[in-house]
Amino acid sequence: MPIQPSKVIFLDGEWLPWDDAKVHVTTHALHYGSSVFEGIRAYNGKQGTGIFRLGPHLKRLLDSCKLLHMPVEDYPQERLHEICIEAVTRNDLDECYLRPVFMRSAGGLGLYPLETPVSFFVFAVKWGRYLGQDAIEKGVDAMVSSWRRFNASTSMPLGKIGGQYVTSQMVSIEARKAGFGEGILLDERGNVCEGAGENLFAVMDGEVITPPLASSILGGITRDSAIRIAEDLGITVRYAPISRDMLYLCDELFMTGTAAEITPVRSVDRIAVGNGSRGPITERIQEQFFAIVEGRTADRFDWLTPVPAASPARA
Ligand SMILES: Cc1ncc(COP(=O)(O)O)c(C=O)c1O
Repeated sequence: MPIQPSKVIFLDGEWLPWDDAKVHVTTHALHYGSSVFEGIRAYNGKQGTGIFRLGPHLKRLLDSCKLLHMPVEDYPQERLHEICIEAVTRNDLDECYLRPVFMRSAGGLGLYPLETPVSFFVFAVKWGRYLGQDAIEKGVDAMVSSWRRFNASTSMPLGKIGGQYVTSQMVSIEARKAGFGEGILLDERGNVCEGAGENLFAVMDGEVITPPLASSILGGITRDSAIRIAEDLGITVRYAPISRDMLYLCDELFMTGTAAEITPVRSVDRIAVGNGSRGPITERIQEQFFAIVEGRTADRFDWLTPVPAASPARA
């Protein structure tokens, strides 16, 4: 998906024009995937622009740095918070997608990374519905990928680490080439893990089921939001393994992610999920989610960080 350039990018302490934010070809992260990143959305709601769950995203970014032994003393969470807000205001964006990245930069060629300096940048761009508006209402057609998700004995699923996204890319390529909207990964035991860039929820007998944190998933912030909304609506949420055949037999299935937001899955491997359209529990959770981010209902979980001086509130 091509992105539309915005005005300025924060790179190592400076705000640079979009075209000037460049890195050297010897950048370690380009060769070895030694970067960590976040994807964060800012929504333009009735109260103006708000960044969705900025604190948990920045906490996860710093956790990913910890996993890769990256020194980040120059960027405590409060500083990252300010830079992210500034990235929205300096680019005059009302709704956008923020991408903060720490990476091992230029100066070292060997695998041992601890002597290679760490760079930090953030850009903010306009970004619409990742899987399409149609998908939000009607759902996506997904397939079970032939690729398996790595686990905590081979990598670090809880980290949002650049190099780990090769698997997600292979899943996306396979799914798109086969005519599906998204691919679902199983774990090493054959249980359902998550989508290429989304967490997964099944609805069975009125209960919402999602794989637990220690089952090789990324601890999604939208996942956490969907769980909190479901519980608030009085819906039981269970953390339990989901087997492949449960995907075909469950009543509803949906995916969560910053990019995908909350998207129903209407079929898996060409088998209809439920009656092949968005289910009622998915719709209730989705409706609450969008009502909060669009400011149509009170931000009762305190999820939105207001962006001062961004565009006026949506009418
Ligand atoms: C592999 C993977 N799983 C799940 C998610 C969903 O996480 P979040 O809701 O925090 O965006 C993402 C996206 O960040 C992801 O890349």
